[in-house]
Amino acid sequence: MDVKEYIINLGFTFDIETYGCQMNAHDSEKIAGILTSIGYRPSAEKYEADLVIFNTCCVRENAENKIFGNVGKMKQIKQKNKNLIVGVCGCMMQQNGVAEHLYQMFPFVDLIFGTTNMQKLPEMLYEILIEKKRSLHICQEGVAAEEVVMLRTPPPIASVNIMQGCDNFCTYCIVPYVRGREHSRSIDAVVREVEQLMGEGYKEVMLLGQNVNSYGKGLENSDFPKLLDAVAKTGIERIRFMTSHPKDASMLMLEQIAKHKNICKQLHLPVQAGSTRILQEMNRKYTREQYLKLVEQIRSLIPEIFLSTDVLVGFPGETEQDFEQTISLMQTVKFDAAFTFVYSPRKGTKAALMQNQIPEEVKQQRIIQVVELQAEHTYQSNLKNVGKVEKVLIEGKSTKNSQTICGRTDGGKMVNLPGSINLLGKMVTVEITEAKKTTLIGRIVN
Ligand code: SAH
Ligand code: SF4
Ligand code: F3S
Repeated sequence: MDVKEYIINLGFTFDIETYGCQMNAHDSEKIAGILTSIGYRPSAEKYEADLVIFNTCCVRENAENKIFGNVGKMKQIKQKNKNLIVGVCGCMMQQNGVAEHLYQMFPFVDLIFGTTNMQKLPEMLYEILIEKKRSLHICQEGVAAEEVVMLRTPPPIASVNIMQGCDNFCTYCIVPYVRGREHSRSIDAVVREVEQLMGEGYKEVMLLGQNVNSYGKGLENSDFPKLLDAVAKTGIERIRFMTSHPKDASMLMLEQIAKHKNICKQLHLPVQAGSTRILQEMNRKYTREQYLKLVEQIRSLIPEIFLSTDVLVGFPGETEQDFEQTISLMQTVKFDAAFTFVYSPRKGTKAALMQNQIPEEVKQQRIIQVVELQAEHTYQSNLKNVGKVEKVLIEGKSTKNSQTICGRTDGGKMVNLPGSINLLGKMVTVEITEAKKTTLIGRIVN
């Protein structure tokens, strides 16, 4: 029997619960595209679909615990709806033994797949729906799906993968183990996708890669600055990208950002730690001094740049002096925004085997300091915007007030402003009137 005909006849719907980073969110758009192509429709209600898929993350332990809890809850829902298919996929499933463990522990989970074999979904669903079997398929090698039809979030903003995987092996990080080796798409493929998105009404693209600065490995005559130049020349209104690894951030890239009006003046440049010794233990391949010098170069070439970072506290062996260096680096740079994390040992990584793990209470004390300091810097950065006139791309309604719409400045700050949702997808000129702790308030000017 044709599985598509079967799915359409029964009017099946799906729901995807996504955890983790933007890469994973984008993978969910691909999974949704594949499901739609075989007849499924998106479900209007969470958990009320005929197929519920959990797209998982394992970058930190707390993410994992939450997922196990939420998948576990499906047992009850499935008791009420025997035909429900429960699926689990994504990064967590690529860890050694986890998929098999989940398969045994949760008999109500019917479908398990990894980060590089979502293209097999139609066959897997055939096994489940027609052959009435459970389906577990993980692929250790291989490259994640690139050229698939996607079901994206509607305009104005779209994510575009420029590469997959990571070759850096920072000693704390699980990503290279669960996402495989780096693989870059061709400049042509990326440009074609951006042009197609423009045709569909998208105004802004977010170019995604774990380390965009090493884009182009294995391709001829291709590197990240060349890719940026080519994407900028499509004429799309706005381009953002993430993540830049400081060790590979080049002057040529900065020149492209400075040169093209449509490349947003925003850079996410994860520092992780302020102590050179810890950076070395992390295998980050830059020193504190090199990072600070890079920040100086960036700010002298592009003074209006909005600079954000990731800070990781409590890495094994981090002494009080090492931690003080993280604080002093943050004070020197005064990032416009930062994501702050407590180190969480990940099985299979080098750092998890290090002897000198930091006690939980110490990690907690340190993260509180970092969070407070960054809150102050974010607010100071917000205050600097008051009185400025900015272009804001309206991306939706504000969550707090139905009369308020929201969008981001070129630097990426979220602005709430009074206005009609008819402005969705429009670039409007906004005067910033007030700074809140994490967002801005503005009003439209002509
Ligand atoms: N490729 C990106 C980051 C991907 S993971 C980069 O290199 O910057 C996002 C962030 O999660 C990392 O920057 C790091 O700060 C954090 N992270 C990674 N592994 C972690 C771990 N084991 N414990 C806590 N935070 C971690
Ligand atoms: Fe993880 Fe480092 Fe790769 Fe980022 S660059 S994904 S932190 S290994
Ligand atoms: Fe992203 Fe989490 Fe995987 S951060 S790459 S979804 S482990």
